Amino acid sequence: MESTRNNNVVWHNASVSRQDRESLNRHKSVIVWFTGLSNSGKSTVAHAVEEQLHAMGCRTYVFDGDNVRHGLCSDLGFSKEDRIENIRRIGEMAKLFVDAGVIALTAFISPFGADRQRVRTLVGEGDFIEIYCKCPLEVCEQRDVKGYYKRARAGAIKNFTGISSPYEEPENPELIIDTAVESVDQCVERVIGLLAERGILARPI
Ligand code: ADX
Repeated sequence: MESTRNNNVVWHNASVSRQDRESLNRHKSVIVWFTGLSNSGKSTVAHAVEEQLHAMGCRTYVFDGDNVRHGLCSDLGFSKEDRIENIRRIGEMAKLFVDAGVIALTAFISPFGADRQRVRTLVGEGDFIEIYCKCPLEVCEQRDVKGYYKRARAGAIKNFTGISSPYEEPENPELIIDTAVESVDQCVERVIGLLAERGILARPI
């Protein structure tokens, strides 16, 4: 049987472009993609970066794994297939935000290199800034903010990243922040520094 999906849908071009929105905002849009183990500091740093960008007058939004899994991805679990779908949806959503002129910060474990690469390809090289929150498993496990590691070690949570499910380290991220050593403020400074260096925050009159 012929698939009815997408066949009768044609892309509609908006008359207000991404560039128009960017010039209104007086900064560029981009995806700032944080990846790393659970408790490696992704959300903490992403939200702290957002706070600073907001204070600078930038339009921002943080997509956070724990929150998105309550809504957009509430039908997904932690099997390999579900994680792939989770990241695919976030990638598509973040792409729309980039088109909307927003600096989209995402905080997902995103353990598989191929999935992160797919998002990079989806939006294009310059629009994807990958930040690896590097933190030894032992440190993440010690932090264990929500008690997940303890439960995963006890076998009560299956497919837990770092314990019973793999994490593939980024091979060539735009930035590595060592969250076991650097303070949140230091990490924020480095992320904002990179955005400035890339001309994201330039504010032409
Ligand atoms: S991802 O692998 O698909 O990118 P995501 O970032 O959305 O994961 O969600 C990870 C969060 O879900 C963790 O920070 C933790 O709070 C919670 N969680 C629950 N079960 C698991 C699991 N099996 N593996 C990893 N995280 C889990």
